[in-house]
Amino acid sequence: MNDIYQLAIRPLLFNAVKADPEKLHSSTIRTLYWLSDICYSPSTRWVNQRLRHSFCLFDKRLEQNLFGLHFPNPVGLAAGFDKDGVAAPVWGSLGFGFAELGTVTFHPQPGNPKPRLFRLPEDNAALNRMGFNNSGAVDMAHRLTEVRKNLTLPIPIGVNLGKSKITPLEAAAIDYRDSFRLLKDCGDYFVVNVSSPNTPGLRALQDATMLSSILEALSQENLLPQKPIFVKIAPDLELEAISDIIELAFNYKLAGIIATNTTIRRDNLKTQFIATGKSPQEEAGGISGAPVRDRSTEIIRYIYKHSQGQIPIIGVGGIFTAADAWEKITAGASLVQIYTGWIYEGPWMIRRILEGLLVLLEQRGLTSISEAIGIERG
Ligand SMILES: Cc1cc2nc3c(=O)[nH]c(=O)nc-3n(C[C@H](O)[C@H](O)[C@H](O)COP(=O)(O)O)c2cc1C
Repeated sequence: MNDIYQLAIRPLLFNAVKADPEKLHSSTIRTLYWLSDICYSPSTRWVNQRLRHSFCLFDKRLEQNLFGLHFPNPVGLAAGFDKDGVAAPVWGSLGFGFAELGTVTFHPQPGNPKPRLFRLPEDNAALNRMGFNNSGAVDMAHRLTEVRKNLTLPIPIGVNLGKSKITPLEAAAIDYRDSFRLLKDCGDYFVVNVSSPNTPGLRALQDATMLSSILEALSQENLLPQKPIFVKIAPDLELEAISDIIELAFNYKLAGIIATNTTIRRDNLKTQFIATGKSPQEEAGGISGAPVRDRSTEIIRYIYKHSQGQIPIIGVGGIFTAADAWEKITAGASLVQIYTGWIYEGPWMIRRILEGLLVLLEQRGLTSISEAIGIERG
């Protein structure tokens, strides 16, 4: 079953019918939305049991309690896949140990013109310039409030916040704060996303002064019960700028740092042309997947070392195998996330990674995943 996706489904979708990546993504999201619905109605609840039986792996050695939340395993869904949070109930049944919804912005917005998502199969990568297409914080808040009224979700749900395109950079703090205010009761943790390359000027908010005004606004709003807040950073930041963010993380008592988003670099890509007929070098957007793997791990290692392991890290970028996840965890990540790998490897990937992590734990004579964090910090 494990290989059906890679041997048959993926070649069919990617090569034979050359399915448009965004259309494929929309159909997947529609299917997951439908599954979320049927999984939890009493007459069709068995579907959820079947999904869990097929995709989940439960093992005490993979569990962790972090920032007041219980994570059944360390492998989560990265932001950007479920931008409107329509499939929140189903991610736990697909094996993920947590899921990050969004990026959501205060104002609903259509995102950039299409086409804006491309596969780079020779590089095990994707190029996207989606531009935070989403139905807005009010819509997500309604949806998640409804879900939470009816269900206890089995995994922590993060909400990734971005700046609305129409909001000027100087007013960014208010924009993030307004989204946080609407969504605070709906998410288990929150992420200040200042690292997407696809909203003009957004990455400038990684600058210490700009970022601290956002964190200040959120901390004033984050009254009891306080929610864990993360900052998600770009792989293209200089190490000096990362040091500033580490300092801010201490000052504002952040729950941690998510490293990293997509890269604007185009080094060493094998893909010569994407679906527009142009080269990736000529196209705007962020690259995800294998090309971002090493840089993201390097940043994780840097944060771990320079914070003496005191700042929890969620590692993301180019994870396809258990070895990739292990590399990030042993470099210092407490948790990891996946987006592009899931597209390439298919829905059994999470289970495969979890099985692989258990083997790696055994080989090292470790009894739990938390013991592996940062052991190869270099
Ligand atoms: C199509 C696409 C859309 C994305 N959208 C978002 C987003 O809205 N917010 C965000 O923080 N990251 C977004 N990301 C970045 C991912 O969350 C992740 O940080 C990055 O892709 C690296 O992980 P990966 O190599 O496993 O994909 C997006 C990535 C892709 C491929």
